[in-house]
Amino acid sequence: MNIQPPKPAATPAIARDAVELQAHVATWRSAGQSIGLVPTMGALHDGHLSLIRAIKGEADRVVVSIFVNPTQFGPGEDFKTYPRDTEADLGKITAAGGDLVYLPGLGDMYPDGVTSDISAGPLGDVMCGASRPGHFDGVASVVARLLRQCLPDVAIFGEKDYQQLLVIRHMTATLNLPVRIIAAPILRQPDGLALSSRNRYLSAEDRVSAAALSATLRDLAARAGTPASNDGASLRALEAEGRQRLLDAGFTRVDYLDFRDGNRLERAEQASGDTRVFAAAVIGGARLIDNMAVTA
Ligand code: PAF
Repeated sequence: MNIQPPKPAATPAIARDAVELQAHVATWRSAGQSIGLVPTMGALHDGHLSLIRAIKGEADRVVVSIFVNPTQFGPGEDFKTYPRDTEADLGKITAAGGDLVYLPGLGDMYPDGVTSDISAGPLGDVMCGASRPGHFDGVASVVARLLRQCLPDVAIFGEKDYQQLLVIRHMTATLNLPVRIIAAPILRQPDGLALSSRNRYLSAEDRVSAAALSATLRDLAARAGTPASNDGASLRALEAEGRQRLLDAGFTRVDYLDFRDGNRLERAEQASGDTRVFAAAVIGGARLIDNMAVTA
């Protein structure tokens, strides 16, 4: 029997500016192929790779963009120190089956100056938008540019950044961008911690304590779904309990822990099929976010 070794994954092409990106996209389009885009800021982990694998089922060709976008970082945030490891990222994209890596420079994304010129609207004002003013305008501004440059049929975003996903859906609808936005479920470590590029900021001790975030949300989501907890006062009491549990577990600040509806992000007065529990909290050097659907 002649057993062939597995074929090594093809190395993706690299586009370093929008002109190169559009040349690749035009070639694929003329062959009748559809395009999927996975926007990232690099420092890729298995969560990103799951996005690449998921979008491969939706499009013939997969473009992965890597751009650490300055407009979504506030003053004093980690823009300068945000992990950058393009070599390692390229290897991971190859293994996950990406076709093209788009590595634009600052001037490609912001030729007229580094500014957020697209508003996220009211969805960007609550939760992470309240503690990181301007963050979602920065996200909307860069994702709109990436979508216009690439003009994909479909783009994918993870549900860990659930608020970001809603802001992007809203932005594409208001700008009439002809792209389908799809969502991918949160990938978690065995102890429940949602995968994030910022988890690498955690010390070994804080990494253990960080599991309290998903454990607390899971418990609250289950209890909010029971008839005994299903009114505004009970949901507020569960939120207060959750915040205290995070502080007791070693988190030093809880930016929010809220039950909200999963479409408009309004505070929930009772749990329904749409309700989710959302939290952002700081432990050691990392601000972690997570969210879960209420299991009614
Ligand atoms: O989720 C991210 O990594 C970023 O916010 C995104 C969508 C790539 C925009 O810079």
